[in-house]
Amino acid sequence: MDHIPDIFGQLPKQASTLAASVDWLYQFIFWACVIMFVVIIGAMLFFVAKYRAKPGEKPLAPGPKHTTLELAWTFAPLILLGALFHWGFQSYVFSAVAPATSIEFRVRAKKWNWEFEYPSGSREGGVLVVPVHQPVKLIMSSEDVLHSFFVPAFRVKRDVVPGMYSTVWFEATELGEYDVFCAEYCGTSHSSMFAKVRVVTAAQYREFVLNMDRPPAGKTKAQWGAELFTANSCSACHHVVAGEAGGVGPNLFGVIGSEQPLEGGGTVHADLAYVRESVLRPQAKIVRGFTTAQMSTFTLSDSRIEAIYAYLETLR
Ligand code: CUA
Repeated sequence: MDHIPDIFGQLPKQASTLAASVDWLYQFIFWACVIMFVVIIGAMLFFVAKYRAKPGEKPLAPGPKHTTLELAWTFAPLILLGALFHWGFQSYVFSAVAPATSIEFRVRAKKWNWEFEYPSGSREGGVLVVPVHQPVKLIMSSEDVLHSFFVPAFRVKRDVVPGMYSTVWFEATELGEYDVFCAEYCGTSHSSMFAKVRVVTAAQYREFVLNMDRPPAGKTKAQWGAELFTANSCSACHHVVAGEAGGVGPNLFGVIGSEQPLEGGGTVHADLAYVRESVLRPQAKIVRGFTTAQMSTFTLSDSRIEAIYAYLETLR
């Protein structure tokens, strides 16, 4: 009895190595409840009808104590519950301990989206691409409130709690796209906090990872840089049009190749090394007059930083 068919279609498609054991336990509990309901309620209704009070009959005194029967109905459920605990704990341990061969991704949850960071350091929002038949471990954190990472097809769900890391792992068994939901009420747009896990072949995954750090087909490095500039919200703080003032950070028009005055004196020559440092460690050199807001760190791969640099070079 290693498979109980899902005859009522209650559960989504199974797409991970964990799914079968979770579903088996679910179906076992479901059918145990159905059988017990029918037997107990059926017997009750039968006895209610058969032994109902008839006119002129007096109630009988309770029968003698039946120790064997009492022991039986105490220990039978105990054995059943012990078995359920054993099977549940087995699945839990399997789901809690990621294999050593897992590839690791960082997942950041914030109101109201999911961001995935690949082993290369590149980040993508909304879609996590993973290879099939390969254990994947997610190291998750929240940037604001409590969220919960839930992929029904993989039967995995784990809270993502501010101030700590939580982990979850899965090994996808089927190619395709699977929904990721946030399963913890986290505010106004909680219900639209989704993402996708796209399961691809190992070769497709290698190609995806290579291409993720290359300009998309038909785009120059600078055009890709312009997209990354917007996608990473750089434009929220940095103006890029000549003479436009009032940005939270310095206007970046014509900056590349110039000398930038720094807080605390001195200047820096704005080259690729300076741009790279300013992205990865924004507090290292602060342009004079821009001390009101601290820029947060951006973890971008070298090729993405080079693309942004190529874009900034065109601003002249
Ligand atoms: Cu995030 Cu609900």
